[in-house]
Amino acid sequence: MRVWVTGANGLLGTALKQALFDQGIAFVGSSKSQADVTDLSSLNQFYRKWGPFTHLVHCAAYTHVDLAESYPEDARRVNALSPAIIGSLAAENHFRVVHISTDYVFDGQSERPYIETDRIAPHSVYGQTKAEGEKHLLTAQPEACILRTSWLFGLGGKSFVSTMLQLMQQQEEIQVVSDQRGRPTFASDLAKVIISALGWSGIYHAANSEETSWFDFAGTIRTEALAMGWPIVCQHIRPIRTCEFAALAPRPLYSVLDTQKIEKILGYPLRSWREGLIDQLRTIDARS
Ligand SMILES: NC(=O)c1ccc[n+]([C@@H]2O[C@H](COP(=O)([O-])OP(=O)(O)OC[C@H]3O[C@@H](n4cnc5c(N)ncnc54)[C@H](OP(=O)(O)O)[C@@H]3O)[C@@H](O)[C@H]2O)c1
Repeated sequence: MRVWVTGANGLLGTALKQALFDQGIAFVGSSKSQADVTDLSSLNQFYRKWGPFTHLVHCAAYTHVDLAESYPEDARRVNALSPAIIGSLAAENHFRVVHISTDYVFDGQSERPYIETDRIAPHSVYGQTKAEGEKHLLTAQPEACILRTSWLFGLGGKSFVSTMLQLMQQQEEIQVVSDQRGRPTFASDLAKVIISALGWSGIYHAANSEETSWFDFAGTIRTEALAMGWPIVCQHIRPIRTCEFAALAPRPLYSVLDTQKIEKILGYPLRSWREGLIDQLRTIDARS
């Protein structure tokens, strides 16, 4: 087994490289400067230099949700076009693809967790382009695997957790949206799931267990960080509504993913995001 990880220096790519290393699986990661996923000749060149591979995990994406509203064609090139290119490269060279998608493909209006077969109805450009990418990939490589995840946080880059920790060390009061609900997902936990899914086909939802709001998530970050002795100065977290938070892109109000399908195949329940959060805080602590 030899795995190609695109977006290898991103939040998820960083966690995946660590998990592959921990499990002794051979891998090569690529960043944009090494292999532009929107350019077939760039990907071919990388493949000729570092391949052959048995699997590719497509973590690269245009993830600036708000910027995507202003630059939809940039987002479309990466999120919609690259899965098509990667799918055809995979079909030609006989490797399997695990592609990462998002809760933003749904409309956020549901009153129960989204299952894999629920209707796709994205409201943002980011969500639309990710949904197009899913379709293009399955056309090019019908046996590909798509993992939809949500609210990623981890050690390898900027996330809600890192932003909160920074703000909470600088400001006595912060405002956090309280009317969006989802399932935060620790990138290292998702990385282990991805490794299990190498070679799978179809669409799966993968997220840590327990739904929450950004507001409650922030409260837990504060409590746990304080308990570990972080220099938190934030005394008060003020709940605000999505409409008060001036974001360019619409966010799904309810984007809780149902993970029963993947848990049945994995044979274990995904742990709570709280445990992932504590792992992250401990690791940062140990490093500093
Ligand atoms: N973050 C979340 O909350 C979240 C939630 C649900 C789903 N997801 C999905 O999870 C996956 C991983 O997200 P993430 O949070 O790890 O994203 P990230 O930290 O923004 O990393 C994405 C990586 O994609 C790379 N990239 C962008 N354009 C590229 C191009 N043209 N060619 C090659 N590489 C390119 C970037 O590489 P360079 O650094 O080299 O530019 C970047 O490191 C994505 O598919 C995302 O849609 C994320």
